[in-house]
Amino acid sequence: MAGKFTLPPLPYAYDALEPSISKQIMEIHHQKHHQTYITNLNAALDAQANALQTNNVPQLINLQQKIKFNGGGHINHSLFWANLAPYGSDYTNIARSAPGLKAAIEAQWGSVKQFIDAFNGVLLGLQGSGWGWLVRNPGEEGKLAIVSTKDQDPVTEQVPVFGVDMWEHAYYLQYTNNKASYATEIWKVINWKIAEERFTGGVVGSSLKL
Ligand SMILES: [Fe+2]
Repeated sequence: MAGKFTLPPLPYAYDALEPSISKQIMEIHHQKHHQTYITNLNAALDAQANALQTNNVPQLINLQQKIKFNGGGHINHSLFWANLAPYGSDYTNIARSAPGLKAAIEAQWGSVKQFIDAFNGVLLGLQGSGWGWLVRNPGEEGKLAIVSTKDQDPVTEQVPVFGVDMWEHAYYLQYTNNKASYATEIWKVINWKIAEERFTGGVVGSSLKL
């Protein structure tokens, strides 16, 4: 039988990211949106197990998109919660918490500021719902890249160092249509310690267990 996924608790309080992300957004985003992806993923995996037992190929094909969307939603949000941290904590200080990653970013983009400008260009260039990611490629001596994914498509072939949710549900209650402000504020709550862990050891090697 397929395993049951459950909502991972946030590693901080719902109001811990204020003023960058409001308590109200965090509560709804975590308890409603993320939980719905998990509920739907579990249902799709149960249906898949039944379809496998009965060799129901049309149903197996039909379920692929549901598993991709809801499984991606679960993975992406689990990564996202862990790559955020309360503003003002040591974790949000790139120099103290991510010296290796900071050096790699500076080598590729010239400075952290130029990197953030490039990343925000990707975030604001997203059409519709999606995510922005800093990824580490498995080849090319671990070169970094800024990529976006549509809807809930997850990063599967590279290491997701950190991600930023650009769905409207991530910011609209607080920032309405001003997603540029959200994209500016999010940098105050990026957890550079987790980013450094994923940069050096991958997601499996980090303290996040999916
Ligand atoms: Fe989200």
